[in-house]
Amino acid sequence: MVDTPGTGDDGTRDVLDQLAEHALGHLFSAALRTAVSCRIADRLAAGPRTAGQLAELTDTHAGHLRRVLRYLATRGIFREDATGAFHLTPLGDALRTDAPNSLHEGVLLLTDPMFQRTSASLEETVRKAGPSFERIFGKPFYAHVADDPELRELFDKGMASLSGQIDTVIAGTYPFPEKGTVVDVGGGRGGLLRAVLRERPGLTGILFDQSAAVSTHLLAEDDAVQGRWRADSGDFFTEVPEGADIYVLKHVLHNWPEDACLRILRNCRAAMAPDARLLIVDPVLPGGNAPHLGKTLDVAMSAILDGQERTEDEFSALLTVAGLRLTRILPTEMFTSIVEAEAA
Ligand SMILES: C[S@@+](CC[C@H](N)C(=O)[O-])C[C@H]1O[C@@H](n2cnc3c(N)ncnc32)[C@H](O)[C@@H]1O
Repeated sequence: MVDTPGTGDDGTRDVLDQLAEHALGHLFSAALRTAVSCRIADRLAAGPRTAGQLAELTDTHAGHLRRVLRYLATRGIFREDATGAFHLTPLGDALRTDAPNSLHEGVLLLTDPMFQRTSASLEETVRKAGPSFERIFGKPFYAHVADDPELRELFDKGMASLSGQIDTVIAGTYPFPEKGTVVDVGGGRGGLLRAVLRERPGLTGILFDQSAAVSTHLLAEDDAVQGRWRADSGDFFTEVPEGADIYVLKHVLHNWPEDACLRILRNCRAAMAPDARLLIVDPVLPGGNAPHLGKTLDVAMSAILDGQERTEDEFSALLTVAGLRLTRILPTEMFTSIVEAEAA
């Protein structure tokens, strides 16, 4: 018997509706990108507006804009009332450019045409077991980003936007020591390091990433952390700063296949002070069929970077081969967890 949860009285229509909505998923992404590019959320911050008013403010076509907003309202991005005015919802509000932890830049990154093209070639990744990104753009993802300053800025700002809320949660969830040094390896613009240093006034920190990411870091913006950080640029496949007490790899290992992860982990292992801890911040994939953002990101990683999300067993095995031992996993309220390890 076929296992078909969710079919209604008219099972055929329900199946058609569901499959057609799934098949048109790219349209939802495009509609979201359109609303974000037109900064619709910013225009609704002062109160509800009709599509006509929004079209005037954004130099768009009222009829077409209304259809896109009505579609987005079916999934809670905005809300249309009986008078035809659109309102902000919690999801829409997070798209305001001045929202705390705004996701404006993050959604612009995730919906960028470079990723849409990569997704459209997903079948190629599945058939050839390699990232379609490389075939389309002629080089691996980070080499492509490094060669294009505008793309580098889009990526670094997008990652910082997607990380804002997570960084605060990680800094509040892990019992960071009162004293010592934390290195954020592949730490991007330094949002997590800033959150950790704010949380622990006795800690010092090192931000470590490629020079283009480090050069636009956020650490100088915060008086509360001044005098307690340094920003180093380098290549984590060669070496990482030595002698620190905590090494963090946040959303780094999921970019890479096993051999590359082992090189990064072994470099961390070689640099760690005695009794140091390594923290991998990545989704830990649950079993079963329940939706989980990690399962979605896992497919994206396969097409863009030859990376993957991992289960607890997969993290444990990877750490063991690198001379480390998984000590515990701290789940967070978000899709990502903290995998703690020490030298074996
Ligand atoms: C997915 S981003 C995560 C950034 C940050 N940890 C966060 O969670 O927002 C991965 C980071 O790894 C950095 N990276 C990639 N290759 C690197 C290398 N060879 N050496 C150092 N950093 C590298 C990228 O520049 C990028 O900032």
